[in-house]
Amino acid sequence: MEIKKGLAGVVVDHTSVSKVMPETNSLTYRGYPVPELCEHKSFEDVAFLLWKGELPTAEEKASFETKEKSYRTITEACLNMIQSLPKTTHPMDALRTAVSFIGCEDDRVWKDDPETNFDKSMSLMAKIPTVIAAYYRHQKGQDFIAPKKELGFSENFFSMCFGEVPAAEVAKAFDVSLILYAEHSFNASTFTARVIASTTSDLYSSVTGAIGALKGPLHGGANEQVMYVLKEIETPERAKDWMLTALKEKRKIMGFGHRVYKNGDSRVPTMTKYTNILAEHTGQTKWVEISKILEETMIAEKDIYPNLDFPAGPAYYMMGFEIDMFTPLFVMSRITGWCAHIMEQTASNKLIRPLSAYNGVLERKVR
Ligand code: COA
Repeated sequence: MEIKKGLAGVVVDHTSVSKVMPETNSLTYRGYPVPELCEHKSFEDVAFLLWKGELPTAEEKASFETKEKSYRTITEACLNMIQSLPKTTHPMDALRTAVSFIGCEDDRVWKDDPETNFDKSMSLMAKIPTVIAAYYRHQKGQDFIAPKKELGFSENFFSMCFGEVPAAEVAKAFDVSLILYAEHSFNASTFTARVIASTTSDLYSSVTGAIGALKGPLHGGANEQVMYVLKEIETPERAKDWMLTALKEKRKIMGFGHRVYKNGDSRVPTMTKYTNILAEHTGQTKWVEISKILEETMIAEKDIYPNLDFPAGPAYYMMGFEIDMFTPLFVMSRITGWCAHIMEQTASNKLIRPLSAYNGVLERKVR
């Protein structure tokens, strides 16, 4: 029996949410090339597209945005819970706990018809930024800033974290990062969400499990690790030697490699473009200079290419976020892809239950 360790190369189901094409280094959401969505559409448009299968009409867009804005508030009980967490809690753990708590507050928890799941998805997309910002300010000993209905999705988030709206360049780069992180077929966290949905458990349980899966440094946690490495290297002059030494020591270099893309990640050119714009805007050019040398050295030595986390890590850093917030920012975006997959799994469900090949002790007698 051939074992496909890590399910590598195994096709487990159909999906119409997105298509990853490693042969051309490209990615589409519901048929639309993602770089085009980044240039012409907002993250809210993309959320609607992933959930409904089509880009919104002007009317649908207006109603979706009004609803999203109305769902941003979290209850006082939820805020108190967030503010009672030890400040040493990683923001991903705080977020996982808050999503589970929000699920406890929804009396529709067992309802999983398409309209209810769409509504729950919108509610989570709207509340997750509030949770992340609330915990961020709690950790810093600062007062909570309530969401503002007059601001767009990205601008409101910056306002809740930092008390001000960002420059247009920053807001656009952030929105692009959210679109790029939104969806990527059957990755580990999405598959986790689908496994949980396949048991006919509820959407909140699926998302809570997915957050746990995304936290790992081999998955979403890599964007944080990239920035720790860039900070460790500190200057472009040290970058090449750092990489050569790390490779000699057979270290895994975070932000490089991908299970599906072997010749480059389709999302990297777009994110790199906006990371470079941020470097110009903030004057912090050294992170992109170090990144360029690391990338060139890795490709020359191992022919392994950067993944999305590689340019996204320094982009988030230049926007002013603490490093341990990077993976929660990924959640803010990937909630859209997860919920699209939960809805797809629910619409055509079969319990996900693979087999294993036993290699333990042969049968024996109890004495
Ligand atoms: N640094 C150094 N070597 C790497 C590497 C990296 N980031 N990624 C892959 N390799 C090497 C492996 O050591 C292995 O070499 P070997 O055949 O000599 O043992 C080979 O490339 C194949 O790697 P493997 O880990 O089997 O590929 P995979 O498909 O299982 O792993 C990842 C994919 C993403 C888990 C892996 O590339 C990785 O750990 N990357 C770093 C974490 C990261 O950035 N994650 C975000 C992914 S979007």
